Amino acid sequence: MSIRGVHIKVQDLTHRYGSKCPLTFENVNIEAQPGESLVIIGRSGCGKSTLLHIVAGLLQGTSGSLLLDNKLVKAPSPRWVMMFQAPHLFPWMTVERNVGIGLHFAGWPKKEKHERVAEAISLVNLDEYARNNVQDLSGGQEQRVALARSLVMEPELLLLDEPFSALDAFTRTSLQKDVRSIAKELGINLLMVTHDIDEAVLMADRALVMAGAPGRIVHDLNIDLDDPRKREDPAVQAMRKHLMQIFHDASLPSSGSPSSNTEVCDEPAPENGLIGIT
Ligand SMILES: Nc1ncnc2c1ncn2[C@@H]1O[C@H](COP(=O)(O)OP(=O)(O)OP(=O)(O)O)[C@@H](O)[C@H]1O
Ligand SMILES: [Mg+2]
Repeated sequence: MSIRGVHIKVQDLTHRYGSKCPLTFENVNIEAQPGESLVIIGRSGCGKSTLLHIVAGLLQGTSGSLLLDNKLVKAPSPRWVMMFQAPHLFPWMTVERNVGIGLHFAGWPKKEKHERVAEAISLVNLDEYARNNVQDLSGGQEQRVALARSLVMEPELLLLDEPFSALDAFTRTSLQKDVRSIAKELGINLLMVTHDIDEAVLMADRALVMAGAPGRIVHDLNIDLDDPRKREDPAVQAMRKHLMQIFHDASLPSSGSPSSNTEVCDEPAPENGLIGIT
């Protein structure tokens, strides 16, 4: 696969779900270079998923702009794909058919589609399961299928909204390692939301800390660590402690935590996995 990353520029982005709703977040500015991996952390409700949906072109900001490779983004595109907490696969289909579904709908010829699908399945180490039905796979394997389905479209940017939070610690660790190394190998950007400080330190080149209501980015930490990163490395541990402190300071009421927001939105709220870092 010949994938490359994308230059991301989020400029003074502000969002509100409706005229009766409070601001979700305001004046968010992010710049990322092609191939960079960014993680967004922040307390529940500060607008992380909303921000990701805007970058994916699934939602529009209320004001401000989003530029990918200097072009305004206003709609979804296969160049930037989103992976969610649940893999959302078709349970009656094989791994191959699930992975190839996007190429199928795009009308790809059978031979090329087969080659591209095999390559993506190989990248996520599922070769021996290619012909299996996805309902016979474990949760971690299903998430790998979802990853292959995203990669097969040769995206420049992978957006991940807490993609591993439903997995056990062992499976999560192996996926964290693999997603980072695949992204680096292919040169694609990652923009990921997590509640897990370890995950941020293990996977990101930079961690953006969001806080407040309305949310805003209060810290941009460079995670300058060598690869491969191991949880037990002293440098990883030190970075984890540093980021935890920044996160803790950012969450203090004086920095405007979400609980200080007393405005009420009487439009329907979405399903939110209110997990929050404690
Ligand atoms: N469709 C919607 N209509 C109205 N308000 C919404 C809608 N979706 C989200 N919100 C509100 O916007 C705010 C930000 O939501 P968002 O899901 O982006 O937060 P989050 O930081 O991803 O939270 P979590 O960590 O719990 O996933 C919340 O107060 C939420 O209730
Ligand atoms: Mg969310």
